[in-house]
Amino acid sequence: MPDAPSITPKPTRRPEWTALADHRAGGQPNLRELFATDPGRAERYVVKAGDLHIDYSKHLITDETLVMLRELATATGVFALRDAMFRGEKINITENRAVLHTALRAPRDAVIEVDGENVVPKVHAVLDKMAGFAEQVRSGAWTGHTGKRIKNVINIGIGGSDLGPAMAYEALRSFTDRTLTVRFVSNVDGADLHEATRDLDPAETLFIIASKTFTTIETITNATSARTWLLDALGDASAVAKHFVALSTNAEKVAGFGIDTANMFEFWDWVGGRYSYDSAIGLSLMIAIGPDRFREMLDGFRLIDDHFRTAPAEANAPLLMGLLGIWYGNFFDAQSHAVLPYSHYLSRFTAYLQQLDMESNGKSVDRDGHRVEWQTGPVVWGTPGTNGQHAYYQLIHQGTKLIPADFIGFAEPVAELSGEVRAQHDLLMANFFAQTQALAFGKTADEVRAEGVPDGQVAHRTFRGNHPTTTVLATELTPSVLGQLIALYEHKVFVQGAIWNIDSFDQWGVELGKVLAKRVAPALTEGTAVPGLDPSTTALVAAYRSLRK
Ligand code: F6P
Repeated sequence: MPDAPSITPKPTRRPEWTALADHRAGGQPNLRELFATDPGRAERYVVKAGDLHIDYSKHLITDETLVMLRELATATGVFALRDAMFRGEKINITENRAVLHTALRAPRDAVIEVDGENVVPKVHAVLDKMAGFAEQVRSGAWTGHTGKRIKNVINIGIGGSDLGPAMAYEALRSFTDRTLTVRFVSNVDGADLHEATRDLDPAETLFIIASKTFTTIETITNATSARTWLLDALGDASAVAKHFVALSTNAEKVAGFGIDTANMFEFWDWVGGRYSYDSAIGLSLMIAIGPDRFREMLDGFRLIDDHFRTAPAEANAPLLMGLLGIWYGNFFDAQSHAVLPYSHYLSRFTAYLQQLDMESNGKSVDRDGHRVEWQTGPVVWGTPGTNGQHAYYQLIHQGTKLIPADFIGFAEPVAELSGEVRAQHDLLMANFFAQTQALAFGKTADEVRAEGVPDGQVAHRTFRGNHPTTTVLATELTPSVLGQLIALYEHKVFVQGAIWNIDSFDQWGVELGKVLAKRVAPALTEGTAVPGLDPSTTALVAAYRSLRK
């Protein structure tokens, strides 16, 4: 059957796309030359968004490129889709859902309607309930079944029900109550739960079961094992009420698991899993940093939401970052994008972005259901500097691939660092600036020769440079700045999905593996034959069983 005609023109068929392709074919921009002919770009190619100072001068672009990219954004309807998202329209078309993570940080007096109902009062009611509970745990008013104070908080969840709070807990460690032990369990590998609980007293431990659907096998399995661990120690089923709370959209399943829905913190189907950590999913984080800091973080998100909604295209940071990704992915064939935070506290930041970006834009079918003929989301990767410099930066500097990178750094270390440790911060940032400099400008063969390097070694020691980077700077990593950074990337991902004409808000690609795992599990445990199982998997299952002790 022939494909139904496309409702939306393919982005690649638009004149604005063709113009960019021609522009790209016109030559390879060179950063040394671009700065030599236009030194003013260092000041001009800077955008301010909230507290973020974003320098994009080290990109393979000119004023003309930027104009053309913005024209592509206009032509592909980025701004119209953005406004539809903020209004609460059902832009997640394959699930017929609104996409309203922005409502999670809307002010109390905002009005955002889904199906004719203002959702903002519900958002604030849950935030208030979370704050009340968080304060009870922090103050010791909420005690365990035996009357002991809660000292340990374990979030059990996976994907969007884990990565956000786990990342933010690490990022904001210096703002956390250090008397609490907060851990995150996600993997169905029992080792995860075992290591998280082995040194804890069940009587002092609170489990937060985080699952939008409350059907995810990893989470339900871990939650069940956690309940066994608790009851083995406390011996009384009524203990669950004081040691388990749930974060979910599914009250029925929560009740079915045995958690009192009075201890459930709700969110809604218009909050995507990977966009959910400032919903009830952030409860573990709120307990760790306190409700006031959590609200500061939400304010940070909102600053960038407002910026994305209102800043003109020339000064719109998420738009710009999205367009730069399009430039490299679609016109230079770059396959990946590195995000390199120079903050040890951001150790989980890129892992969080992997879900945000790759689950959103890892699609190959457009919004009309046609296979795309253009590249979509990149492979996102990276770890904090300076560690990466001694691992994979070699490939970025001298390998054969073009890898655009975002460098994120801070002018100040977190306030808690003092004395000698504080002094290390300038060294950290010296590395940061040195790397973006080396990546952009490299080292020519003549420069290498001038250092007296023997001819046979010159090629090895030459750096061709011309590697594009964005520099994102802020004064300090605070809850607000973290919120700003996350919102920046959320909206960047949105811009790219809009241009590629894909649904950035579904995730059908993770379903197949889930179904197959359930099908094959009995073959592993009981050795039962799975009808229709392919020969390769059948042989592997047999090998697995024969290797068992
Ligand atoms: O990985 C697929 C996914 O559906 C994610 O989008 C989601 O964040 C994760 O699973 C967890 O789902 P749930 O919160 O329903 O347990």
